[in-house]
Amino acid sequence: MRLRDVFVRLLRRWEIEFISTNIDRIIESDDVLQMMSVWVANGKANVCRGHRGLAFDLNGNRIDVKARAFVGRCDDAIFGREELLNEAEKEFFPYIVVDCSFFEKHIEKERRKLLLQISQTLGVIRRYMWDERLVITALDCGVGVYYPSTAKFIKDKGIEDIILLDPFGEEVFEGQRADCYIIGGIVDKVGNKTGWTSKIGKMLRNEGIEFRSMRILLRGDIVGVPDRINTIAEIVLRVVLDGEDVESAVRSVQSRLVARWRLRKELPKHTIRIDINGKPFRVVRKSEFEKFDWLNLERRDFYEVCSELGYLVIDDCKLEEIVKNAEWDEKKRRFVVNV
Ligand SMILES: C[S@@+](CC[C@H](N)C(=O)[O-])C[C@H]1O[C@@H](n2cnc3c(N)ncnc32)[C@H](O)[C@@H]1O
Repeated sequence: MRLRDVFVRLLRRWEIEFISTNIDRIIESDDVLQMMSVWVANGKANVCRGHRGLAFDLNGNRIDVKARAFVGRCDDAIFGREELLNEAEKEFFPYIVVDCSFFEKHIEKERRKLLLQISQTLGVIRRYMWDERLVITALDCGVGVYYPSTAKFIKDKGIEDIILLDPFGEEVFEGQRADCYIIGGIVDKVGNKTGWTSKIGKMLRNEGIEFRSMRILLRGDIVGVPDRINTIAEIVLRVVLDGEDVESAVRSVQSRLVARWRLRKELPKHTIRIDINGKPFRVVRKSEFEKFDWLNLERRDFYEVCSELGYLVIDDCKLEEIVKNAEWDEKKRRFVVNV
């Protein structure tokens, strides 16, 4: 469930079938009803009587009618932020906390990337929830809600069910729900920051805060899971709010660069070793590409990675022929052929 669904439920309760607005940033968004709900939840607009601008049905389709209500500013609103948030309280909308305790330990270039990822995380949050669900701790950057520390936020809110997302977490994330998911405000560009997320965990334990630490895996490995803060937030929200499985959530946010890293790791398991005229080759069947449909790859990524690794890609039928005419050398564990 997204905030949009709660908003639509309230509109239906008020027997509003069409909703209009003249706010450009809402009209131009990919998900008009979600954006309307975000404006209302953020207290920037209300649901008011009358028609303004363009009308939409409750599936978000543009409809040429005069609506009974609009999202905008007015004095006698039908409902606003308070009613919407009261209704949202009945549903599951977790906090996403980005803990920036290590902000100062980054170089300038990484800090800029971190700030960019935080603002992109707000974009993700707005596609599912509203701004107050994003909490940035130890860094007041004007995005989401600022708290001086994650421990203070958790104690102030009395939150008990917490998951720290950590590539070295003890458990595997399979869609477990929590009231709060913590992501490390860490960018890995320079130096070795391995294990820094676990350090955030240690700091929390020192403050007496209990949590589960979980790693997101793609087919048993963290290689191939994008590690940008916004992509981690999106994976979590796709899984816990939209009910997607982890693998498809990872695939939908995975860049081709990250997919290629995983391909590099997988390909050696798919090669055949052949000595041709005494020269050793590692060969990959052309059809192996189809086995990697769980990665965000194009065929040219497959060929380029094979070439980087020094593997020959051979048509399946040709390879069958070569193997048929070759001898199997048990000692060297490879085919041998002289042509
Ligand atoms: C760029 S990563 C930093 C990881 C850091 N170098 C470490 O070893 O802890 C930024 C954040 O994304 C989250 N993250 C990245 N990959 C993850 C994974 N596979 N599983 C769970 N969380 C992950 C963590 O919260 C992490 O702090």
